[in-house]
Parts: sequence; C-alpha cells; structure tokens
Amino acid sequence: MNARDAELAEILAGLKKPRKEISPKYFYDERGSQLFDAITHLPEYYPTETEFGIMHDNVDEIADLVGPQASLIEYGSGSSRKTRVLLEHLHDLAVYVPVDISEDHLITTARKVRSEFPDLEVLPVVADFTQPFALPDPTVMPQRNVVYFPGSTIGNFTHDEAQGLLDVMYEEAGADGAMLIGVDLQKDPAIIERAYNDSAGVTAEFNLNMLSHLNREFDFDFDVDAFTHSAVYDEDEGRMVIELVSEREQEVSGGGDTIAIADGESILTEYSHKYTLDGFADMAQEAGFAVRKVWTDADRLFSVQY
Ligand code: AVJ
Repeated sequence: MNARDAELAEILAGLKKPRKEISPKYFYDERGSQLFDAITHLPEYYPTETEFGIMHDNVDEIADLVGPQASLIEYGSGSSRKTRVLLEHLHDLAVYVPVDISEDHLITTARKVRSEFPDLEVLPVVADFTQPFALPDPTVMPQRNVVYFPGSTIGNFTHDEAQGLLDVMYEEAGADGAMLIGVDLQKDPAIIERAYNDSAGVTAEFNLNMLSHLNREFDFDFDVDAFTHSAVYDEDEGRMVIELVSEREQEVSGGGDTIAIADGESILTEYSHKYTLDGFADMAQEAGFAVRKVWTDADRLFSVQY
C-alpha cells in the first residue's frame, strides 16, 4: 500500500467510527498552512505571540541552561520567529536538526536557515516524530541533545498519545539530553474559546478547508457549504474540541465507500489540550524528565518549559 492509500484508509476508518473523526494533520495543505499562519496573527489567538514573548524575554537564560555545542532537534520543520531567536542566542550550537514528515517543508526551512545562519550545520530529517528515528551525524560532536517542541503542538495529542510522545522524546534526547517545549495552559475558558472562534472567521475557514483538501487530494465529495465550524472548551477534559457540524442529512463518497452523515452530526477534527503546570510536570516525570525551569507570561496564559 502506498502512502496515499494508507492515508485514505485512515481517513475512511475515522469516518466510519461511531464518533466521526479526521486527523488534524489534514488541515495542512498549502491553503491550510496559509490559514494557520493567518491564525497566528489574529488578535484573539494568544498562543503564538505569547510564546514568542516568553522566548524573547528569557532566551539568555534558556541559552545558559542548554549550554554550549548542543544539538537542537526541532519537532516540526520550524521556520518560526521562535526558532530564529533560539538559533541566534544558543551558545556555539553544534547542529540544527529540523524533523518533519513533509520533505517539501523541510527543504524550504533548511534553505531559509542556511541562508540566515551560513556557519550553522543544518541536517534535516524526514520522519514521523511520534516514532523513534535515527539522528544524523554532525561534524561537531554535540555536548547535549535538546529536543525543541514549540507551539503547544503537544496539545493535539490525547494524554495517552502525549505520554507516548514524551517517552520517545526522552529516548531521542538521550544521556544528558533535554527538552524545550511550549505548553498552553488552562485558564478562563472564555479566553480559550475566543482564540478558536475569531471574529474574522479565519479559524472557521481553516477548519472547513480540511474538507476541500480531502475533496481535492482524495477525491471525496464533501459539500463544504453544508458544514459549519464548532469550537467548544471541555472544562472536565481541559481541551478545546474542534468539529465540523453537518447542517443536513447527507452522504459523502470517497475511496469506493459511501458514508452517511446525519443532520447535526459532527466530525471531530482536532483536540487542543490545555495543561496545568502540575499536570504537565507529572507526565514529563513519567517519561523520565524533571522540570528544571518553567517560564510564563505575566498573565500565565502559556508556558515554555525546560
Ligand atoms: C497548532 C495545534 C497548536 O491547537 O492551537 C489553531 C492549531 N487549530 N486554531 C492549536 C489550531 C485552530 C493549534 N496547534
């Protein structure tokens, strides 16, 4: 089975579950990536700007903790402002290793980073970082591996999945290794819900674009106009639940299958988990990490943890 067939099978399996779901990874076609970038600039979407502020304000302390000649292993091919701040300030960085499933994104990132930091060795790795992968061999032997996982992307994973991912990250970091991670925090639900229900409707468009992506890439025939965006905070679970709600009874076909969708039925497209500092520390500890340092903004909206 080729990669596309495997993905098609995964999508169909999700749509056949009693509680329909499609993985958030299908948000990110070219249009989806543009829309996510637009989200990060929305006044309501606090995570990106807040995390950048925390990084900017504390980067010297971060650099001292990381120490000289580290290997910075970024999960997700980050060409973000946060990454640039790190690359500018870490002491005598041995190598930068962006890890991403998309080779195209990696090539773009590597080219950008190399042009901005011509003296830095950049060794991209195409891999699914939820599974163990082999680290490249840099010219300079690193003093320490530092796994960097920004953006609270950990929030997309359920607690069990996140625990599994932290376990893998601990293995990747290895002896004397470390992790630097951005984790969004629990707070007034109104603030969280606003971040996913912006007044300009960009998040709604981002959510709905997933169906256009599936129509184009996998020959589904979703009637995109017959769905609406829904984003509600579940306080008990501490997570945003982001869904597409069908406004009528309909059938959708794709991959030789037909799936019935009831009027008012929803498809889960994303969870975005929010953590307490204690809750995240417990999970990190379970994986073998000890929380050395937590930085937050003045309003305790977001955390960066080492
Ligand atoms: C990229 C997973 C961190 O959960 O806030 C933003 C994705 N979805 N608005 C998040 C997202 C809708 C984002 N993450």
